[in-house]
Amino acid sequence: YTREEVARHRSPGDRVWVTHGTEVFDVTDFVELHPGGPDKLLLAAGGPLEPFWALYAVHGQPHVLELLREYKVGELSPEDAALPPGDTGDPFAGDPPRHPALRVNSLKPFNAEPPPELLTQSFLTPNELFFTRNHLPVPSVEPGSYRLRLEGPGGRSLSLSLAELRGRFPKHEVTATLQCAGNRRSEMSRVRPVKGLAWDIGAIGTARWGGARLRDVLLHAGFGDQPPGEGEWHVCFEGLDEDASGTPYGASIPFSRAISAEAEVLLAYEMNGRELPRDHGFPVRVVVPGVVGARSVKWLRSVAVSPSESPSHWQQNDYKGFCPSVDWDSVDFRAAPAIQELPVQSAITEPRPGAAVPEGELTVKGYAWSGGGREVVRVDVSLDGGRTWRVAELGGQRGRGWAWTLWELRAPVAAGSRLDIVCKAVDRSYNVQPDTVGPVWNLRGVLNNAWHRVPVTVT
Ligand code: MTE
Repeated sequence: YTREEVARHRSPGDRVWVTHGTEVFDVTDFVELHPGGPDKLLLAAGGPLEPFWALYAVHGQPHVLELLREYKVGELSPEDAALPPGDTGDPFAGDPPRHPALRVNSLKPFNAEPPPELLTQSFLTPNELFFTRNHLPVPSVEPGSYRLRLEGPGGRSLSLSLAELRGRFPKHEVTATLQCAGNRRSEMSRVRPVKGLAWDIGAIGTARWGGARLRDVLLHAGFGDQPPGEGEWHVCFEGLDEDASGTPYGASIPFSRAISAEAEVLLAYEMNGRELPRDHGFPVRVVVPGVVGARSVKWLRSVAVSPSESPSHWQQNDYKGFCPSVDWDSVDFRAAPAIQELPVQSAITEPRPGAAVPEGELTVKGYAWSGGGREVVRVDVSLDGGRTWRVAELGGQRGRGWAWTLWELRAPVAAGSRLDIVCKAVDRSYNVQPDTVGPVWNLRGVLNNAWHRVPVTVT
């Protein structure tokens, strides 16, 4: 086929054709099955898949190509096959440089976590090592022309430059831990495969965030402590990062949390005393303490007070938990609430699974944290798989319940023994972690907070 012929097949009525390399595919019957939604696949109709796959790294897996092959209808004619397949410009070419210590789970978009043993070296995670969770290319923002829009009912609106955000509102600082809902997903997929990036235990980090209180900005725009109408209202955020169809990343939190002085929600422009790094939302991001990282929208472009939650894919059809028996055929994303506060969590950062440790005194290190500001009151550690327990020593630095607690346990260990090290945390509401992954398994691999287990041998 010529490229011109392929280009005539752009809708289910005319059939949907795409190319990959020199091959031509009729994917009409797959349109409705596309996990990213039919509309996203139709963007590529009549042309090459490569520019779109470059945006969504999930396609770079052998099973995706295998699936595509089922729909093959032919080859491009030799003259056309020699032509460059349109604009394959890399949308990620403008991404910032990154620290080489980060373990990359996906390069485009960039998703990476620090090695566990670096994670608990300091109470505040260095900016360069803080995990990065990007769904899209990092936008380039010119700070001089940046504007933050705020909108709501009754004509309440506001547009703020970066200088105004810094100058008009008192700077407020909060030490808070951010954790991705997918932290520890790789343990979940060992029980049964799940969809998502294979995070180890490092999709979590703690920083001292500085910025304007969202509450102060909302009050300035004319909102009060009560929502502007009946029922539960929401504050919706949009980022400057957009997908190929121009749709930005978005998420929302309840209005009651956004306006609460105690909840300390920030429009942050500083991270650990420095301006926000590009990967973490430069020049302004939301930081919602105690809440899943997905709601802390980076590269913030708009804030909207609304009677409904954000319509964004990431609020409606992702970052929700389900019963372990729900599969991709039976899942109904409308049936589950969007994740907000996260459950109690802990993990062992040292030693590493499979390590050989010397006899004598063993030091076990890790982190513990709980959502909603429920500070960790105790961490139990077992060296024998959970039969007997010792109480770990909690680090002195704490952050009003928004931040994690680093902990440590020292214990004598004898040569030749095999240890099954386990940790579990208890928060101030006496919430505890489940002992195994099975009962919290879910198809999207979120919310894994089972006991963390690290087998080691003593030499
Ligand atoms: N905001 C925008 N605009 N785009 C994104 O891809 N990812 C979210 C959230 N905010 C995201 C975003 C997710 S899922 C998480 S866990 C946190 O950012 C991660 O923040 P970090 O990359 O600074 O660690």
